[in-house]
Amino acid sequence: MENPQVVAILGGQWGDEGKGKVVDYAAAFFSLVARATGGNNAGHTIYIKGKKHVFHLLPSSMTWDNVDCVLGNGMVIDPFVLLSEMKSLVDKGFSTDRLYISGNAHVIMLYHRTHDGYQEKSKGDGSIGTTKRGIGPAYADKKHRTGIRMNDLLDRKMLYDKILYNVKEKLGMFTHVYNADKKEIIKEFWTSIPDNGLFNEYRESLAALDEDSDVESIAEVMTRIYHSAGKMLVSHIADSSRLIHDTISKDKKVLLEGAQGLLLDIDHGTYPFVTSSNPSVGGLKTGLGISKIDEVYSIIKAYTTRVGSGPFPTEMEDIVGQKIREKGQEYGATTGRPRRCGWHDAVLTRHTSKVNGKKIIITKLDILTGVDKIKICNSYKYTGPKRLFNGEVYFSGKILKDFPCDSTVLEHCVPEQWIEVDGWTEDISGARDMDSLPDNARKYLKKIEELGGVEIVLISVGPERDQTIEVPGRWLLRSPDSASQPATEVINADKKKYRAIIYDLDNTLLATDDFVRILMKETAQKIGKYVRFKVPADAEIAAVQKKNLPMEDMFDILFPDPEEYMQNEPFSRFVLARYRESAKDLEYWATPNGVSVFREFEDKGIVQLIVTNRMSMAKERLMQAGYPENYFIFSPENKEDRKPNPKVFKTALATLESRGIKKEEVLSIGDHTDDYLASLRAGLDFVGVLTGLTTKEDFKSAGLEGSRVIKDIVELKKIIR
Ligand code: GDP
Ligand code: IMO
Ligand code: MG
Repeated sequence: MENPQVVAILGGQWGDEGKGKVVDYAAAFFSLVARATGGNNAGHTIYIKGKKHVFHLLPSSMTWDNVDCVLGNGMVIDPFVLLSEMKSLVDKGFSTDRLYISGNAHVIMLYHRTHDGYQEKSKGDGSIGTTKRGIGPAYADKKHRTGIRMNDLLDRKMLYDKILYNVKEKLGMFTHVYNADKKEIIKEFWTSIPDNGLFNEYRESLAALDEDSDVESIAEVMTRIYHSAGKMLVSHIADSSRLIHDTISKDKKVLLEGAQGLLLDIDHGTYPFVTSSNPSVGGLKTGLGISKIDEVYSIIKAYTTRVGSGPFPTEMEDIVGQKIREKGQEYGATTGRPRRCGWHDAVLTRHTSKVNGKKIIITKLDILTGVDKIKICNSYKYTGPKRLFNGEVYFSGKILKDFPCDSTVLEHCVPEQWIEVDGWTEDISGARDMDSLPDNARKYLKKIEELGGVEIVLISVGPERDQTIEVPGRWLLRSPDSASQPATEVINADKKKYRAIIYDLDNTLLATDDFVRILMKETAQKIGKYVRFKVPADAEIAAVQKKNLPMEDMFDILFPDPEEYMQNEPFSRFVLARYRESAKDLEYWATPNGVSVFREFEDKGIVQLIVTNRMSMAKERLMQAGYPENYFIFSPENKEDRKPNPKVFKTALATLESRGIKKEEVLSIGDHTDDYLASLRAGLDFVGVLTGLTTKEDFKSAGLEGSRVIKDIVELKKIIR
């Protein structure tokens, strides 16, 4: 979808994937950023000009002006931690005026933290290794329907009743189940309040209680301090779901910031070594009360880390693991614990793709620089006792391609197939586009895509905002004024006065390759239910698409006759016919910003032509994608041919000349080297756009100057006044 409105950025592994960094980078494109799940178990780090900021409850967009920041109803909030975090931000000169907290978010109470600590201690070696922030007990009370919500803090009477019920229950449990005495419990309570000078009075009034204090007195003191904290937050408490809906209805953009990671999801993670919420895509809708999510990006580190206990099949317990920990500074942002490090795990990535969708962001690629051989695990071997799991028999030696969401199975899984790729030594922390990455780094990324069945949309090569590479044609976010931002590269210094543009159609104006690939896969998958054949992988399809062939030829390559296929027509034609049937019902979409730029040029009186050999449906497709109706299409022949046919330029130029526009005043733009070569033959100035599969390197090898290659159509505005 071009320029999506509601976008989610989620952790795709065991947390700490770099969500803070990416959300801070992406926030520039959004009006509102919301967190939906988790609490201050999260630690999201951002660096702005070398200065480090860590967020636990606040969204990572807090340093941006003009962005509303929301804590959703699905979160659990420790008010003391929140107030401390807000204060330290204000001390650094940032504002918290645009912070909104859902009145329905649950409160992490002091007894939740105490409970978390006791429970972990009593489990001994079997402990989860939680952050001891009270997350699990707070979510448990929510499900028990005995929780306290942010709105309750503002009603003293109601608050007292709820606290009294809970204090009675928890004291009973702490003393009888965990054998704690009251004095110790009270000490646990007051020492859990941050000792930063903000809450001295709260700490003292709790510390003044003793073993003779009855539950009513304890509940009374607690009510007073939580009511007082609630009053400090009152101006921020809001109906966050309505706020987000209003923002969406005003056509503004909303970013959803994940916390933790998919493998810590209570349903889709390594249960029971998980957190108590749903950090997967499902948690966003309930955690915010919204239905619209246009794009979901899961972050996967270039390697894998895990903090806390639980199985981790690709863990490196050797010197390479230690080196990566040191270089990647893999120490918890919340607890400071060393993070366990391991190789990239394609089994895990396939699981992430299945649950959250296939678009991913890779972070910390720079940390692998200098590693000689990089490994990827592609399957596991089960080595445990024979057992039934998910309706299948698991026996020692069984090969697993799918991730088992259960620690008692996963703990017996060891990597079975390793794929090894060569590393690189070049410093990549300054790379800002794909072409600047060493070949081996690109090969590694391709392997991750191929084995995981995922598409990388963004790559991070350092902790700073700008150490980021947008993958052309994949990263679809554009800020409203991105055209006025300073260019990352001088695109074209030559200020020639162009009065007309000739566009190539496929991938220059319409995102056809994406459309074809997605639909081709869907069609093949449907057919795969009754004909046995190999559905081509995305990478195979992309390799053929890059050749710029007519559809028939593409299908011939991708769909050879399967064994036992006994029909009159070749299998490829059978698939193509089904594909075309489905294509009729589906709408095409434009390349990033195509429509808005097209319209802007139209307003400026620039003549715009579209050349295509595939006249049929072109007009309908352009209109489906949102292009205006009054444009010109040239097509001398109504048949598909190897593109582009030089004749189309001749016809186009004749029309332009009849309008008094000279050849020197015309700029041709296309996404393929064939477009460049045909334009060259027609004597036209050309600009290559990276909205298809052709890379800058491809254009350069065809002879086009690098400075005449642009990322998307917005950059045309720098060339055409
Ligand atoms: P989060 O919990 O997902 O937000 O991740 P954390 O902030 O806990 O941990 C990620 C760490 O990696 C932080 O210290 C970031 O500053 C850092 N980081 C993020 N992306 C990159 C990157 O691409 N390269 C490097 N070297 N560090 C990164
Ligand atoms: P961010 O948002 C990494 C882990 C804990 C523990 C398990 C349960 O920074 O990625 P909990 O306190 O939630 O009950 O602990 O989950 N954990 C995280 N690990 N990053 C996080 O957050 C985490 N939040 C929880 O270490 O294993
Ligand atoms: Mg973290």
